[in-house]
Amino acid sequence: MIVARTIGELRGLVASARGRGERVGLVPTMGALHEGHLSLIRRARERCAYVVVSLFVNPAQFSETQDLSRYPRDEGRDAELAEGAGAHMLFAPTVEEIYPPRFATTVEVFNVSESLEGAIRGPKHFRGVATVVTKLLNITQPDAAYFGQKDAQQALLIQRLVRDLDMPVEIEVCPTVREPNGLAMSSRNVLLDAAARRRAPVLSQALFAVRDAVASGERDTRRALVAGARLLADAGIEPEYFAAVSSETLRPMETIAGEVLVVLAARLGDVRLIDNVLVHAPESAT
Ligand code: PAJ
Repeated sequence: MIVARTIGELRGLVASARGRGERVGLVPTMGALHEGHLSLIRRARERCAYVVVSLFVNPAQFSETQDLSRYPRDEGRDAELAEGAGAHMLFAPTVEEIYPPRFATTVEVFNVSESLEGAIRGPKHFRGVATVVTKLLNITQPDAAYFGQKDAQQALLIQRLVRDLDMPVEIEVCPTVREPNGLAMSSRNVLLDAAARRRAPVLSQALFAVRDAVASGERDTRRALVAGARLLADAGIEPEYFAAVSSETLRPMETIAGEVLVVLAARLGDVRLIDNVLVHAPESAT
């Protein structure tokens, strides 16, 4: 696996791939790779002859320094896993390469940044995500970039950003990969202690309960959320948010109609987890 540390090295390698007429795909990550990340890399490999995986734990999107300092890191393992999934190059820059002295620009995507994760983690988080993703897309200039539905608000923000700034890249959002017990894969799962790990599958069960309620015909949002809320309460989990929102605007919906995103965030011990499911209901209830 080729590891590029600088923007210059990466651009040289991408230019060679382009010279061979290859379509270039980018999978941005913060490392600690798991099956969720690998599914994005495999998808990129299906669609692109040359696949770049970026590994950069972006300090600009962390508000809690504790969360940043304990973020799991193992570049050797990540390089092996990425290569096994079909990546050609790992771009693993230093913080100084991405944020050189006197760095002064940020990208902010309004309307999709303020609620949910933005409200809990503060405005710095999505500003940090939007800025680094803009940089990674400008640095690599891929034909396509791959993101996970697991971070639904982030995926929406990136689609909006690319459209608003006329960036010539196709954004593909790929399905959430789960453990057999339903728990959405996350780099933070390794931080869960045994007790939290046992309770963690309740998050996806709560989301699936809402999906089942809608599938059985429930169209009132509050009633659809009840079964899930009960599962969470029984497990002693107090969600930071548990809501059904429009998948386009992220605004809460009183009635389930069209494509609705059911989103959930909770702390298990001192580990914060997020998950979501997309629910489809006919526009007009029967
Ligand atoms: P990270 O948390 O490492 O995630 C990298 C990509 O993997 C994101 O697009 C995320 O949505 C996707 N992903 C994570 N878990 C997944 C799962 N269980 N199934 C499918 N996809 C999954 O998200 C980030 O990094 C950063 O914010 C980043 C976009 C790299 C910017 O710094």
